[in-house]
Amino acid sequence: MHKTTTCGELRARDAGRTVTLMGWVNRRRSHGGLIFIDLRDRWGVTQIVFNPSVSSEAMAVAEEVRPEYVIAVEGVVEVRPPGMVNPNLATGEIELVAKSAQVLNPAKTPPFPINEPAEVDEYLRLKYRYLDLRRDFMLRNLELRHRAVRFIREWFSDRDFLEIETPILTKETPGGAREFVVPSRIHPGSFYALPQSPQQYKQLLMVAGIERYFQIARCFRDEDLRADRGLEFTQLDLEMSFVDQEDILNITEGCLTDLVDNVGGKKLLFRPFPRLTYAEAMDRFGTDKPDLRFGVEIQNMTDLAGGTDFRVFNAVLESGGQVKAIVAPGCASYSRREIEDLTRIATGAGAKGMVPLALLPHGFHSPLTRFFSDTRLQEICDRLGARPGDLVLIVADAPDVVATALGEVRLEIGRRLGLMDPNVLAFAWITHVPAFEWNAERNAWQAKHHQFTSLIDEDLPYLESEPGRVRAKQYDVVCNGYELGGGSIRIHRRELQERVFRVIGMTDAEANEKFGHLLEAFEFGTPPHGGIAVGIDRLTMLLAGQDSIREMIAFPKTQSATEPMTGAPTPLSPAELAIIHLAVTSHE
Ligand code: AMO
Repeated sequence: MHKTTTCGELRARDAGRTVTLMGWVNRRRSHGGLIFIDLRDRWGVTQIVFNPSVSSEAMAVAEEVRPEYVIAVEGVVEVRPPGMVNPNLATGEIELVAKSAQVLNPAKTPPFPINEPAEVDEYLRLKYRYLDLRRDFMLRNLELRHRAVRFIREWFSDRDFLEIETPILTKETPGGAREFVVPSRIHPGSFYALPQSPQQYKQLLMVAGIERYFQIARCFRDEDLRADRGLEFTQLDLEMSFVDQEDILNITEGCLTDLVDNVGGKKLLFRPFPRLTYAEAMDRFGTDKPDLRFGVEIQNMTDLAGGTDFRVFNAVLESGGQVKAIVAPGCASYSRREIEDLTRIATGAGAKGMVPLALLPHGFHSPLTRFFSDTRLQEICDRLGARPGDLVLIVADAPDVVATALGEVRLEIGRRLGLMDPNVLAFAWITHVPAFEWNAERNAWQAKHHQFTSLIDEDLPYLESEPGRVRAKQYDVVCNGYELGGGSIRIHRRELQERVFRVIGMTDAEANEKFGHLLEAFEFGTPPHGGIAVGIDRLTMLLAGQDSIREMIAFPKTQSATEPMTGAPTPLSPAELAIIHLAVTSHE
């Protein structure tokens, strides 16, 4: 037998045709001396009727099959009798009357149901990923990812970008994420590194004169995993020459806008994407990746917080801290327990506490009423735009603690009040990002994005004296609370690159050893250039409305960095280790 037709394509117009279907038994039921099998493949489900008066052999096969058996059935397409049409099934107008059938492969009972939605433990799902991927929603996720990547490839190809593959076995790059290394058999004691991103290669492609490069690029980072972070992931990586920040923002925004309009069922909340400086995002949302689907912004009330005996605020004011608040609309009636839960989020984020102020019909309810006059409390509420029925949540602390704590509480309020519309994508740009951050462990400055990022011209004079004040020509694209992508205009002159290396604590000798190839390339006619990389796993996760990138990856690792299906990672035998000149000194 040969498969002539998919399980998703037959309609009433096909009545009378003899076809052969092959696929998996989705469901089997007996009814009135007949057996009905829903046969499934990638394209859909078709109902097959086994009738002993049509074929007793086919009937015998149908009696033996169980869910997930792979079978082949030849039969005749018939229009279903009126009343038996299934409007929920694309093939619901017809059924196939089996003339012959064959089991191609039986199946054990699967460890979880394939044919109906079910909550299944993730470890089990990943152990039997090939079964998990048979489930409808996982198939839809893989299809959506394929459509998105195809769309992106065509979009950039249409605009004269070249997709160029860059190496997977590369040289270690200090400063960024921890890298995976691969021992060299041919060069004992030497290692390749897997790329965190194609960053240096794409810059070198600009030196090579490519001007418009993109790649759907695999990247590897030995990081602690989270729902939005994998050991290996995929970027839409791009780089352009003779451009400024505006050009990169426009081209990226153009692609993302067209992608959302053409792939997936989500709607863009903003066109064009709003732009916030990093400082503004931190100030209003407490994070550099704000979820802009809702308001509940963080507001400053530092100037209204002093002049009383309330020690908590006074201590913070004396140490130069901030007092800021959010207004949770309609939450004045929150119970003590609910407020405690919210407070725990604030303290979990580093705050010493959180002060509630409820605007009840009969007046204010708050620990502040002992210290603040009603007039002052009203003044605070007027400033914050709080109305009767609202709950004001106040945190006083150092600015970064206030931002993180209220940022987290804001998200929780958004979740509790259902303010995050799952059907919209709220993209935004974050610009004017600080170039350097202090690494307390290393006791040194490090590049916040990466060390190839150019600096905002007016901040250059502070490069050596106050690195923390210098902002980068860097931009991030964020969406619904996730960082989706980041990029920058690059340094393309050797002197500035060397100054930056020095600021992040690299001696000239080290810089030459690690990045001599790049520094040398900059002396052979390097065009001004810049680019960006957008995480494909995160982007498609948002397009699909999922909450983990693992739902968008065919064979992901678990949160604890293993692959339950194959058992990776696994130890090597002494003989295998000897070939690559390695000795293992400790085992788990
Ligand atoms: P960056 O490190 O910001 O920039 O990464 C760009 C985007 O890649 C995605 N991403 C990840 N996705 C899943 N798992 C991970 N572990 C992970 N790490 C990053 C995110 C992120 O926004 N070379 C620069 C880009 C440039 O400057 O052009 C870079 O890699 O969506």
